[in-house]
Amino acid sequence: MFTLAHLSDPHLAPLPTPRWSELLGKRITGYINWQRRRRFIHDPAVLNAIVTDLQAQGADHVAVTGDLANIALPQEFIRGRDWLQHLGSNKDVTFVPGNHDVYVPEGALYATRQWEAYMCDDAGVGGFPFVRRRGPVALIGLSTAVATAPFLATGWLGAKQLAELAVVLTTLRNEHIFRVVLIHHPPVSKEARHKRLLDAAIFLRVIGQHGAELILHGHDHLHMINWLDCKNGMRVPVVGVPSASAKPGTKEAAAYNLYRIDGVPGAWNCELISRGISPEGEVKLQKRYMLVG
Ligand SMILES: [Fe+2]
Ligand SMILES: [Fe+2]
Repeated sequence: MFTLAHLSDPHLAPLPTPRWSELLGKRITGYINWQRRRRFIHDPAVLNAIVTDLQAQGADHVAVTGDLANIALPQEFIRGRDWLQHLGSNKDVTFVPGNHDVYVPEGALYATRQWEAYMCDDAGVGGFPFVRRRGPVALIGLSTAVATAPFLATGWLGAKQLAELAVVLTTLRNEHIFRVVLIHHPPVSKEARHKRLLDAAIFLRVIGQHGAELILHGHDHLHMINWLDCKNGMRVPVVGVPSASAKPGTKEAAAYNLYRIDGVPGAWNCELISRGISPEGEVKLQKRYMLVG
């Protein structure tokens, strides 16, 4: 039995006080959005409660699918590194970036500098896709994080990453390992186009062709589950979680998922356990069911 925990979109709060010069460009719109709306959603006490509960569950590994930062200020990356280190060692925690981590182009550089130990392969080599093997599981880390114009929250994988993903999925299928794809933007979403993964159709074709056992995402800040049909008849669950810092009473209160994976290649079992924050501020079991098997 291997237990994988998944949380997403911590949006670490409070936002550090920016210098005026740091608000030039896209950051100004994000700063106004934070002051008007987002600071009333993302609560450090809620995030602490989620992390404390998660750490008590004895997971073998934790996956975090992006949006640690808010407007990609340099201080947010140092704080993000400290938060990741508190969550666990870089051997036990895997991170992929979200659009808020690359809110401005230099965010990609800051993320690499501060967080690369959590987003690299088993040899410590960064870049996407990366692969980490843990017991019966392979974690495949993708990046959809690209700097965009103001008011856009789109994602983009690009032809090179998608081509490499196809090769990785084929190699790992031949190893008969449980393939978990980590991606910030959902490949299937009801959100407006300006928030979506723009090359989702190609990603879905790659998965349809080469398969995967599980796809985990964040970004929409909602509990989501979709099923993808593959060429060989297999169906791939695509599961999203709410923001791990969202207060009760907002769009969807903070939660995280645990996956208990066992079985053998070709006959995997995977149980999904959702735990989330109640209106009283306690983290409790919300749902438990067999996803596969
Ligand atoms: Fe987010
Ligand atoms: Fe996002």
